[in-house]
Amino acid sequence: MADTYAKVVNAPPVRPLAARLGLPRPPQLERGAGPLGALQAGIVLGAAPEGSLKGALSAALERCLPRTPVREGGQGEAAGALIFDASGIAEPGALGCLQEFFSPRVRALAPSGRVIVAALAPERCADLRARAAQRALEGFTRALGKELGRRGVTVNLLRVEEGAEQALDSTLAFLLSGRSAYVSGQVITLQPPAGTPEQVDPDRPLAGRRALVTGAARGIGAAIAQTLARQGAAVTGIDVPAAAQTLRATMGLISGRAITLDITAQDAPRKIIEALAEGVDVVVHNAGVTRDRTLAKMDAERFSSVIEINAVAVEEINAALLEADALRAGGRIVCLSSIAGIAGNAGQTNYATSKACVIGIVQALAPVLAERGGATINAVAPGFIETQMTAAMPFAIREAGRRMSSLLQGGLPEDVAETVGWLADPRSSAINGSVIRVCGQSFLGA
Ligand SMILES: NC(=O)c1ccc[n+]([C@@H]2O[C@H](COP(=O)([O-])OP(=O)(O)OC[C@H]3O[C@@H](n4cnc5c(N)ncnc54)[C@H](O)[C@@H]3O)[C@@H](O)[C@H]2O)c1
Repeated sequence: MADTYAKVVNAPPVRPLAARLGLPRPPQLERGAGPLGALQAGIVLGAAPEGSLKGALSAALERCLPRTPVREGGQGEAAGALIFDASGIAEPGALGCLQEFFSPRVRALAPSGRVIVAALAPERCADLRARAAQRALEGFTRALGKELGRRGVTVNLLRVEEGAEQALDSTLAFLLSGRSAYVSGQVITLQPPAGTPEQVDPDRPLAGRRALVTGAARGIGAAIAQTLARQGAAVTGIDVPAAAQTLRATMGLISGRAITLDITAQDAPRKIIEALAEGVDVVVHNAGVTRDRTLAKMDAERFSSVIEINAVAVEEINAALLEADALRAGGRIVCLSSIAGIAGNAGQTNYATSKACVIGIVQALAPVLAERGGATINAVAPGFIETQMTAAMPFAIREAGRRMSSLLQGGLPEDVAETVGWLADPRSSAINGSVIRVCGQSFLGA
């Protein structure tokens, strides 16, 4: 559904009035897989004294964005991205260097620009003061995201554990592109990957790989299937028999294979394994439903059917994949959770339970998969995304969902799909057991 409000307040004749009235004006986000226009102004790379990540960041930038100028200093000059290595902040008293670096530079940051704060994982810091200071960076990045969101700028915290310094490429490339337009206020942790991250064609990192997407007929699932296909994967899409025609049309666009199947059917895991006789590299559990009612009015069928589709089926398909050894070495599982599974939402006890369960599945399986040829499992938690699911919401709730975020608007299916594509990338082996919100820094549960 079109965001009419955003169009009206940004229309040239209305803009000045909207500004005078202090109405929120959603910025136009720069999307797409090509180079981010904002980066024409270059990247400014700074560091706290004794920072240990600057060298790795600079080398990764050279590999990912060889044509983008990276400079130090750059005070008062226009910039497309500010990257700050905060790993050297070893005590709370040294946090002032954040203000020193950012205050003189944020104003000149381009619209749809990027801020990345690189840090250590606090729980890995032996020194108590360093641990506290590194934890403080989360507050800083989230607050800065709320300040800069109205310009379409995203702010994310990138924690790099010892041994993960060589695994920055896919994440930096994602954060510094239009693919991450709706990802802000996130804490992303890179763990030491099993083995050296694979070298792949950055434009087609999934070439020669097979992917499975459930709920692929429409909405976010269709966008995920298209993104994975653009990245080079041969995609199999699954959806319910009632959506067979739409599924065939969606898969036809990407020369993919369509399988009509209700994932809650008793024999669904077996049928999926049979269809994946040659194994699978990427599995995306996207199929999901909402059946909202406050708990006092919720009957058993409404409650449990949502849990069955959104969580039980995911768990059973994963178990079958592992038992049949169908997930290839270095495989990727990505599950669709929701910010409702993190923050809870009135009228959605069933949905929130199921989406929190998805996070539980991810956290429980991550160490198991790491042992199996460096495979990973992660969750993507969308906020308000413009799909048929959200178009069905009452007007006031829909408007609140759109505006209650730093970026002042809903996301698009492609925003979620691109995040899935980043996690599915063979070079993203350092991210395992994470929950990444694609929510424009929604104020719900943040
Ligand atoms: N749209 C949002 O704002 C939003 C926010 C948070 C999370 N999500 C999650 O993202 C995912 C996709 O959401 P969407 O908005 O594209 O929804 P959608 O309703 O547009 O699409 C969901 C698809 O899943 C399919 N599906 C449902 N039950 C199935 C079953 N039993 N077996 C096979 N396929 C089944 C549907 O037929 C449909 O094609 C869901 O898991 C949803 O919970 C969406």
